Amino acid sequence: MISRPVLNRCLVAALLCLSTAAPAQTPPKGAYEPQVGQHGKDVIWVPTPQALVDRMLGLGKVTPQDVLVDLGSGDGRTVITAAKRGTQALGIEYNPDMVELSRRNAEKAGVTGKAEFKRADLFETDFSHATVVTMFLLPDINIRLRPKILDMKPGTRIVSNSFTMGEWKWDDSVGASAEEGCTSYCTAYLWIVPAKVAGNWTTPQGTLQIEQEFQMFSGTLTVNGRPSKLINTKLGGDRISFSAGGATYTGRVNGDRIEGSVKSGATTSPWSASRAPKS
Ligand SMILES: C[S@@+](CC[C@H](N)C(=O)[O-])C[C@H]1O[C@@H](n2cnc3c(N)ncnc32)[C@H](O)[C@@H]1O
Repeated sequence: MISRPVLNRCLVAALLCLSTAAPAQTPPKGAYEPQVGQHGKDVIWVPTPQALVDRMLGLGKVTPQDVLVDLGSGDGRTVITAAKRGTQALGIEYNPDMVELSRRNAEKAGVTGKAEFKRADLFETDFSHATVVTMFLLPDINIRLRPKILDMKPGTRIVSNSFTMGEWKWDDSVGASAEEGCTSYCTAYLWIVPAKVAGNWTTPQGTLQIEQEFQMFSGTLTVNGRPSKLINTKLGGDRISFSAGGATYTGRVNGDRIEGSVKSGATTSPWSASRAPKS
């Protein structure tokens, strides 16, 4: 009998769930071969097509300076592909056989120094050091992970195969085509963790009041008792910009400080803001 959580998942991932209802046979020991649709702790195993893996790393602008973590790393393909690009990469995978398989795959690819695999539950693992997180999980799991993700360093890139983050709208997306060998689960989404900017800020110009919903924000700048609505608001990681009262403000958010510049007419001058820390 299919359990209620499995039925729920069927609504969003019919193919995945059909496979869950009929787990694959266990292969003989020593010749472990994973079966698409095999049971996983919270999500079954379906590999991301290699063409989309490549696109996902492009979408996340992954470089050798990054640290990538793949949550539920399956046979290790995303981690190994990132490692081949010179990126330090870690896969978190619950199934020990998949972890062993990933390690063998990394060895075959000659990237054992860059590709690591940890047998662990992704919900119980600290991945806050990642600069890029990749995943191919399920919508409800993405939502469960969302608070942890939003607490990561601003600018961290999150790339998810097929499944989104509820009301947190993605910043960009990419697809892979059938000609490239991708026939299902061929769209990936990117989110950039936004700095937390909500609150009341003090600036040399006056008081800045901001309300925030994920990477969107609105508010007012009050100068000499006269409030101006913030327009052209933009928040990309720790980079903030907006216009108010005929001037354009840009800056970088660092905790309770913003440092940047303000352009008014032809004049550009330094600008900063500070927020009273939460008690
Ligand atoms: C849909 S597959 C994606 C595999 C790989 N990321 C890819 O894109 O090819 C999901 C993987 O998550 C693993 N998984 C499921 N629940 C997990 C959990 N709680 N912690 C760690 N891994 C988990 C499964 O075993 C499976 O390998």
